[in-house]
Amino acid sequence: MTNWEEKYQTGDTPWNKNEPSPGLVDFLAARPGLARGAVLVPGCGFGYDAHVWANAGFSTLGLDLAPSAVAAASSLYKGQAGLRFEVRDFLADEPVESSDWLFEHTLFCAIDPNQRDSYVRAAAKRVRPGGHLLAVHYFIPDTEGPPFGTDRNEVVSRFSPWFDLLEDWVPRSYPNRTGLERMFWWQRK
Ligand SMILES: C[S@@+](CC[C@H](N)C(=O)[O-])C[C@H]1O[C@@H](n2cnc3c(N)ncnc32)[C@H](O)[C@@H]1O
Repeated sequence: MTNWEEKYQTGDTPWNKNEPSPGLVDFLAARPGLARGAVLVPGCGFGYDAHVWANAGFSTLGLDLAPSAVAAASSLYKGQAGLRFEVRDFLADEPVESSDWLFEHTLFCAIDPNQRDSYVRAAAKRVRPGGHLLAVHYFIPDTEGPPFGTDRNEVVSRFSPWFDLLEDWVPRSYPNRTGLERMFWWQRK
């Protein structure tokens, strides 16, 4: 199992881009009329994506397993209205409040593939009926991770029992991930 806290403590965070997901930035910019609501960002890391949601007027909760990530994100965005961070295990089977939106960015590919059933169950539990899941998936072939690869067939078959697919597309991305990401916009059944 990956020791995420140790990675933050030793500065071993190669996924970190010091900026939010370009696909998320474009998604929100293109849809200024989306109804505002509560957003959950699991595996939020340093919190750049959570900050984008909060800045757009969504009440945002970033979760991460690693206390050092939550401490860094809380310090970086101290005072930002509508944004908070908590140390929590997204996969833990605990009673949860459900959100209007859940945003996924490099958490699905970070967890061990044998935890993917738990991930989908957690996502389904966390999004209210009619709410939305917006995901940026990483389409790489790697089986030795993290990151662990996936593909469109796996994503569609895993999430379809719980969510209706509204749209999927190749987003603008970071230079070293161009063409390797695909975004999925789902609505909870
Ligand atoms: C690859 S990093 C991505 C961070 C951030 N989403 C980004 O794109 O910069 C994966 C993150 O998920 C967190 N994580 C891993 N398993 C988790 C779990 N079960 N619950 C919550 N966070 C988790 C790790 O601590 C790490 O911050």
